[in-house]
Amino acid sequence: MADTIESVLNESRVFQPVPAAQLRFSHWHVPSLDVYKALHAKSLADPDTFWADAANHLAWFKPWSRVLDWNPPDAQWFVGGSLNACYNCVDRHVESGHGEDVGLIWEGEPLSRRTAHPATGSHYAPMHELRWLRYRELQQQTARLGNALKAMGVKKGDVVTIYMPMVPELVIAVLACARIGAAHSVIFGGFAPQAIVERVTDAKSRVIITADGGFRRGEIVELKKNVDEACETLATTPTKVTNVIVLQRTGSRIDWRPGRDVWWHDAVEAASADCPCEPMDSEDMLFLLYTSGSTGKPKGILHTTGGYLTFVNLTARLTFNLIPDAGQVFWCTADVGWVTGHSYVIYGVMSNRVPTLLYEGAPNFPANDRFWDIVARHRVTQLYTAPTAIRTFMKWGDDHPAKHNLSTLRVLGTVGEPINPEAWMWYHTHIGGGRCPVVDTYWQTETGGHVVTPLPGATPTKPGSCTLPMLGIDAAVVNEQGEELPPNQGGLFAIRRPWPGMLRGVFGDRDRFVKTYWSRLKDPATGQPFYFAADGARRDQDGYFWVMGRVDDVINVSGHRLGTMEVESALVSHPGVAEAAVVGMPHDLKGTGICAFVTLKPAWLKANARTPDDALKKELAAHVAKEIGPIARPDSVRFAEGLPKTRSGKIMRRLLRDVAAGVEKITQDTTTLEDFSVVAKLRADEE
Ligand code: PRX
Repeated sequence: MADTIESVLNESRVFQPVPAAQLRFSHWHVPSLDVYKALHAKSLADPDTFWADAANHLAWFKPWSRVLDWNPPDAQWFVGGSLNACYNCVDRHVESGHGEDVGLIWEGEPLSRRTAHPATGSHYAPMHELRWLRYRELQQQTARLGNALKAMGVKKGDVVTIYMPMVPELVIAVLACARIGAAHSVIFGGFAPQAIVERVTDAKSRVIITADGGFRRGEIVELKKNVDEACETLATTPTKVTNVIVLQRTGSRIDWRPGRDVWWHDAVEAASADCPCEPMDSEDMLFLLYTSGSTGKPKGILHTTGGYLTFVNLTARLTFNLIPDAGQVFWCTADVGWVTGHSYVIYGVMSNRVPTLLYEGAPNFPANDRFWDIVARHRVTQLYTAPTAIRTFMKWGDDHPAKHNLSTLRVLGTVGEPINPEAWMWYHTHIGGGRCPVVDTYWQTETGGHVVTPLPGATPTKPGSCTLPMLGIDAAVVNEQGEELPPNQGGLFAIRRPWPGMLRGVFGDRDRFVKTYWSRLKDPATGQPFYFAADGARRDQDGYFWVMGRVDDVINVSGHRLGTMEVESALVSHPGVAEAAVVGMPHDLKGTGICAFVTLKPAWLKANARTPDDALKKELAAHVAKEIGPIARPDSVRFAEGLPKTRSGKIMRRLLRDVAAGVEKITQDTTTLEDFSVVAKLRADEE
């Protein structure tokens, strides 16, 4: 895309919020910048009152006695309170007389049939596969599945693994776990068997919920087969999977292990629909979600019930101006396998009693206008997607959205990576018709929900900036000493005090939790730790945040978070690879692409009569995709005779990044290189 670092730095366009009525909202929850500023100041001056008010938007079985106990880095929110997340997303809506309202709208990917047009007989109309689920049905389904899980021995506190396509049963599975007090660990359906093995082992999970397959771009993704493969490996470890619940989605042929495998429909039919929501302590675990860090092993980010739900309920309501009974249809296009799906397909939206839309498949099936067709047919009011998707739509051309009536849209959201101003402008113009505010939401798996974002009725927006902190969030750009930096100076993004949606731990790894997030930065005055997000950022003269990207060994590929070490481990598991170093490189569509520098084993090359050629590059890229999943497939594989290292043996990643980006002049001081010739060799190998 045409954006350069200079053009982003010089971005000066500002878009003012418009009156609520102009967008057919009855009101803005936060109606002006002045109101936002006053509320933000108040939320920091008296956090207990602010967060108690936020928590009071939920239904509690037992009230809390204290809002916060903070023993850094351990926070307990709404101490002594008890509630249930499924109750808040489903049952309470039934009990308040909304049982017949639609809570979940679903569209499958396949166009099941083409029928002759009744008038002309020659015209063909696609038949969409659609389901509308009312809160009453969601209550019954989560209750039945909850009982089925209990019958398999799942107890409060156990972890249930979910590996499913984007179908209503995925949401039902998540909420059924919450209903009975089991924690869910959702694994993105694009991950490979080895990723399932790692996550199931770490969580000591004994039950997996999956499907025979899922539809993606007209093909069938064989989910059950991947689970079978993972279970085979797991059988050789102390973690034994006792039950696999299988939803019939594609009808494809699958292998069956009697005793272990159970059809979803059999399990649910046999179960009673009477399954009260388990009262959970506010600090009881709600879910684990595995995400990449700077080591080879993904970490289980732990979120608890009361604080997380309070935070996503608040942020969903404010950032998207959610209002129940106002004809809103909220569509977040993220997969439930990522945190965005947890917080803004399910918990944040459903706890606000606004219908959430779930689409199973790809944006280009059967044609490149599928998303806009969905927006128009379902009358979507708020749309939430990723910059990488927006850049792809730009490439496909303006005529695809132009063919559809997008006039129901009111707020557009983006998440996952910095959005380049050109993509922001395209989204604003071609999807939002120039009238919809764009909310660029900055957050992480660890933060639970939005921590820096515009509020659509209050915040003037600047393309490329995630603007100002969420209410209650004390965000800052600091230096290594924890001192806040003056405007326009790059530094580290930090959150200076606890918030309810913050992670409570890394599952089973206290050390990693403390070291990764709470050891790098502290308050220079008090010595209290700040939350370290591992992102670089700057604030401009208006206090607006501009996120510059990760400062650790994590790369953001199409808004998906990957650890460079994970990809390196996958590469060295190939018998021909001696050593590998992976760095990010600029990529027009993905934002960041993956570039792998690889040294090969001469003995292996010789024994197998192979040469370092294109075929081997392709083989290595495919090997990574098989080990981790297609999202981790390197965009470029480059062979090197040796990797550039410092005298202490550390790979010089910054140098490799420069080489990968094709930067001509190597800016780095290379005098500490072990082998100067490698620089020249790498450069000679440039594609
Ligand atoms: O680098 C930031 C980037 O995504 C990282 C978090 O990734 P993950 O935990 O997978 O969560 C993604 C969805 C919340 C952050 O550390 N990131 C996320 N949103 C933005 C962003 N970078 C810039 N602008 C954003 N709006």
